[in-house]
This record gives sequence, structure tokens and C-alpha cells, in this order.
Amino acid sequence: MKDILSELENRRNDARLGGGQRRIDAQHARGKLTARERIELLLDEGSFEEFDMFVSHRCTEFGMEKQKPAGDGVVTGWGTINGRMVYVFSQDFTVFGGSLSETHAQKICKIMDMAVQNGAPIVGINDSGGARIQEGVASLAGYAEVFQRNITASGVVPQISVIMGPCAGGAVYSPAMTDFIFMVKDTSYMFVTGPDVVKTVTNEVVTAEELGGASTHTKKSSVADAAFENDVEALAEVRRLVDFLPLNNREKPPVRPFFDDPHRIEDSLDTLVPDNPNTPYDMKELITKIADEGDFYEIQEDFAKNIITGFIRLEGQTVGVVANQPMVLAGCLDIDSSRKAARFVRFCDCFEIPILTLVDVPGFLPGTQQEYSGVIKHGAKLLYAYGEATVPKVTVITRKAYGGAYVVMASKHLRGDFNYAWPTAEIAVMGAKGATEIIHRADLHDAEKTSQHVADYEDRFANPFVAAERGFVDEVIMPHSTRRRVSKAFASLRGKQLKNPWKKHDNIPL
Ligand code: HXC
Repeated sequence: MKDILSELENRRNDARLGGGQRRIDAQHARGKLTARERIELLLDEGSFEEFDMFVSHRCTEFGMEKQKPAGDGVVTGWGTINGRMVYVFSQDFTVFGGSLSETHAQKICKIMDMAVQNGAPIVGINDSGGARIQEGVASLAGYAEVFQRNITASGVVPQISVIMGPCAGGAVYSPAMTDFIFMVKDTSYMFVTGPDVVKTVTNEVVTAEELGGASTHTKKSSVADAAFENDVEALAEVRRLVDFLPLNNREKPPVRPFFDDPHRIEDSLDTLVPDNPNTPYDMKELITKIADEGDFYEIQEDFAKNIITGFIRLEGQTVGVVANQPMVLAGCLDIDSSRKAARFVRFCDCFEIPILTLVDVPGFLPGTQQEYSGVIKHGAKLLYAYGEATVPKVTVITRKAYGGAYVVMASKHLRGDFNYAWPTAEIAVMGAKGATEIIHRADLHDAEKTSQHVADYEDRFANPFVAAERGFVDEVIMPHSTRRRVSKAFASLRGKQLKNPWKKHDNIPL
């Protein structure tokens, strides 16, 4: 019996070594952790339960039958993050470059199926040379099986991808279909075709980092949601994110202990909006002053900064925040900000996370570049996402809410539950100057008359009361009491039940 037990221990030790000490050292030398070290950092200490440690590939081509490392380049299993269950796979670059074989894919599929069945998030740690070249189409089939499961799991359990090395070719499409993608600066990259192919086909000379590094994907392409300095920081941030999320679409988000009075008054908010309506201010100040303990988890911080998306807690409960940022492009909506916010709103709606919308928007960004690139369809995504969302929706208009953008930003007309406005709100078809130029065109030559018209229009519309008279704004609130009002609103909506009519699925403009 002793021998049998030590045989198991030996086999386990071999499996834990992956591709061997030399390759582990090489991994460390690049500033990267191993697949197992990453899992240890991601999960609560000692909580990891492994599946399929001894699975090996079945390939007999190219002498592969002589090297059959246990585990086949991916470590899979489940564990807990702050006591809550998650499934995880972590590709082991030390084994055939983390490349995906048929059996490697089967291991991933197994835990994805378990995650959906048992209602727990999936965290995928990617560090792979792509399809196992020796296996050919069997490897491609393996990818397809993973993709199908990403699709099936979408909206059922949260899926988080962490890119911690290469992720190239068709392999990128698995993370692309997950809810959040995190990258590590300087050691991770994602692209459909690498720099060599790019050079051959388009004659562009570009490095892997420029083509698909963390900076490219968080700032330019918006493929990734955040980038971190190293593996340790990235995994700590995944833990923080998971803490905000429900385990699946049948559960509510977790309620955390909170030590911040929900009725806290913030007098400084009374002077947040500057006297001059064209002077910007930082909307993030409002978000952190509303949030429990000022804690704001921002998503896509470096992309389309004219809109802010992320999570806060109110009375310990997760709330998704979407807010125009007057500091960037005056808070205009454009293609990028509409896409960014629409995807966020839809994530929240999938997983029953209530949405707080903070509005200061002068309209959609004009221009040929926007129109030629389809701002009509992309702007419609946000409109559509808000309109279809059935989760509790609370909106606060702090200043401008003009034109179509007023309607889009979780207005009463899109089934907003509580629509508040600060006394500084201006809810109108457009700004006073623009309006005057159209409806008083005949008087434009007369400066005195024109400024009188502008003043008249401002008097009439640069306030929240016209909308409040019609019930489009439920209440005009004091800025200093925003946290209290918003907290009470969400508390009153905890029993909200609203269902869209049955459909196979919707047809959001893509
Ligand atoms: C089998 C692979 C491999 C692969 C790497 N290795 N990629 N083995 N299949 N795809 C092995 C190497 O042979 C090497 O083995 C070890 O992993 C480490 O690789 P190195 O090249 O030494 O490492 P590095 O210099 O860091 O380069 C990493 C790399 C490079 C950039 C990922 O290995 C590379 O370009 N690999 C091929 C990438 C590729 O073309 N993949 C197919 C993409 S198409 P030893 O024994 O020496 O340690 C694809 C289609 C998916 O993925 C389609 C889905 C629908």
C-alpha cells in the first residue's frame, strides 16, 4: 500500500513539473508565472481541486508518442474566490508551448460544462502557442468545441479571460466571446495574424507588442478590458472583479458587508457642476462619492473615455455604473462610447446587476468620420441595450441631456425606474445657441435680438422642470443627497419584476 501511495505521489510530482524545471525557469525568466502558480494566486489558499491531472495526448505523429507529459499543457479544476466557487483552466506554456491538442481542449470543455451545470463563473488563463501543430485538424476541432461552449455559457455564467502570454490565430476567438478580458503588460499579446504574416500580406512592419499588446487592446481596439503590470496584479484584480459578480444568471450578485452610511450627505456635490455650462468637471468624483467606501471598479478605463463604465456597491450590493464624462469630448456619445456602454449594459442585464446612469451629454458627436463608420447603428446599440434591459435602472441627470442622447441614456421612456435630475440639469432638444440659430434664423444678423433669443431659450429649457412637469423626471434632487436618494431607489427596486415578451433571441443592431 505504501508503494502504491508513493507511486501516486511520484506521478503527481511529475505532473506538477509540467514541461520540466528548465522550461519553468525560462517562464520565470520572462517575468511570467507558471500555470499552477497562477491558479494558486487566483484562488483562495488550498481551495484548488484539480481535474484530469493525468490526461495525456493521443497523437502519434512526429514522434509525439515518445513525449506524453501528464496534464497535456493545461491545468483545470475548480476552487473558491473569497469563498465563492469558480472553475478555472490555466494553460501551461512549459508543455508544448501551452498549445491546444484534442485532449487539452477536452479538459477545458469538461470544466466549462461543469461550470454551466453547477452555475459558477469560468476563469480562463491563456498562455499558448495556439493549435497543437502536430495534431492538425483534431486541434482545430478542439478549439471549435471550446468556442461552442463559450457561446452556450454566455449570459449563463460570467466568463473571464486572462491573457498571460501568446494568444494568436483563431485561438483569440475564445477570449473574444467571454465577458471580460484582462491582459498583462509586455508579456501578453493577441492577434488573428502575427507580425510576419502582416508583413507578407500588407507590407506593414509592426512588432507583436504594437500589433496586439496590452496597450493596443486597451487603448485602440477595445478588445481587452484592462491591462496590468504583472501576473500577480492581474490575478488580484480578477479576484476583485469576481467579488462584484453573481455566480450565474439565476443568482443575485453577492452582498458584501459595508461600513458607509447609505444616507451619507456629500455637500461638495452642490458645487461639482461649474457655473459655466461649457466648463468640464470630473464625473468620476460623483461616482466615487455615491459609492460605498468610494470603491469604483472601472471597466475599459483607457478606451472611449467620454463614457465611464464600471461597478460600485450601494448598501453592499453591486450596481453597474454608466456615466458620461464631460472631461473628454464634452461627454458626447460616439461610436466607441456607444459600443463600450452597450456591451456593459447588456452584461449587467444578463446577470441581474442594477444599473445607475449618470447623464451629462450634449448629444452625439457630429462628423463624416462618425457617419461613415456607422454611428447610426452603433449608437442604436446603446439605445437598444437600455431599452431591452429589465434590471432596476436609476438615472441622474446632472447637467446636459440633449436630443437623442437624452433618450438613449436610460431615460424614462426606455423604462427607467427612477429618473432624477439635479437643479442644474438642462433637458432640451439641443443647446440654446444651436436652437436659436435654427428657429430664429431671420434674426441672426441682429446680435441683440439673437442674445435675447438665446436667453429666452435658456430660461425656458435650460432646467429640469419642463421634463419634471411631464413626469419624465420623477424628482429634482439636491446634489448633496444623491447617494441617499439613489440608494433608497435601488432598495425599493429589489423586488422588481419585468419581462420582455418571449422571443428566440433579439436582433440587436450589430
Ligand atoms: C506545438 C508548440 C506550438 C504549437 C509552440 N510550441 N507552439 N508545439 N504546437 N502551436 C512548442 C515549441 O516547439 C517549443 O517546444 C515550446 O512550445 C516553446 O516554443 P518556443 O517557440 O521555443 O517559444 P517562444 O520563442 O516563446 O515562441 C512562442 C510562440 C512560438 C511565439 C508561440 O512558439 C510560435 O510561433 N508557435 C507557433 C504558433 C502558431 O503558429 N500556432 C498555430 C496558430 S494557428 P520545446 O520542446 O522546444 O520547448 C491556430 C489556429 C487556431 O492556433 C484555430 C482555431 C479555430
